[in-house]
Amino acid sequence: MGIYVLGIAGASGAPYARRVLEQMLLTGHDVKAVITDAGRKVLEVEEDLVLTGNTEADTPAVLAWAQVNNYSGTFELYHHKDVASPIASGSFLIDGMAVVPCSGGTLGRIAHGISNGLLERAADVCIKERRRLVLVPREMPVSLIHLRNMTAVTEAGAIVLPASPGFYHKPTEISELIDMVAGRILASLGIESTVMKPWLGPEPSTYSEEGIQ
Ligand SMILES: Cc1cc2nc3c(=O)[nH]c(=O)nc-3n(C[C@H](O)[C@H](O)[C@H](O)COP(=O)(O)O)c2cc1C
Repeated sequence: MGIYVLGIAGASGAPYARRVLEQMLLTGHDVKAVITDAGRKVLEVEEDLVLTGNTEADTPAVLAWAQVNNYSGTFELYHHKDVASPIASGSFLIDGMAVVPCSGGTLGRIAHGISNGLLERAADVCIKERRRLVLVPREMPVSLIHLRNMTAVTEAGAIVLPASPGFYHKPTEISELIDMVAGRILASLGIESTVMKPWLGPEPSTYSEEGIQ
């Protein structure tokens, strides 16, 4: 099984992170997580998850939030200022990293190699080591600066996966919209899960030869 880094920055979209973390652990992967200060604030606002910044105390709280029981992977939470942790070094082999959600600020720092926190440093390492890095920005509208930063990280090899769920599966629950994004993130990391429903065409098929004559 693989080792994945999950970064949580201060953009809206904490439920996406929850679903990705749950699936990474349930599918037997080892997860190294890092949450920015603003990420903690958003978790509080959106998920009522109050973290202290003390990783020992926060670990069980994050696992309870992810609602995983009997998972076969392992979970380790690092402090954003702990730049001496293993994921800060390319010598520590990992299979990929996702930043879910990714704020415009974190996107900009990653795009410019400004690794003043562990999350950005771990992403910087992924880029330099040519490892899979998936960034999930959530912003609207996007500015020219955001677009340029997305271009820069894409040119450097990262995958920009905006948190923009589609509606072609006719979702009726918020959880289905969350899964639409979480499933794509997991698939982009190469993690097999049942979260992403592939599009198999309309049901029943509405295609007709007459219709295109
Ligand atoms: C409730 C809440 C929601 C936010 N939503 C977004 C967002 O969707 N996108 C974004 O780029 N910033 C958002 N922000 C602002 C960022 O948190 C802020 O720019 C912060 O400095 C980013 O820090 P970080 O990149 O270290 O996580 C939000 C802040 C709060 C408190």
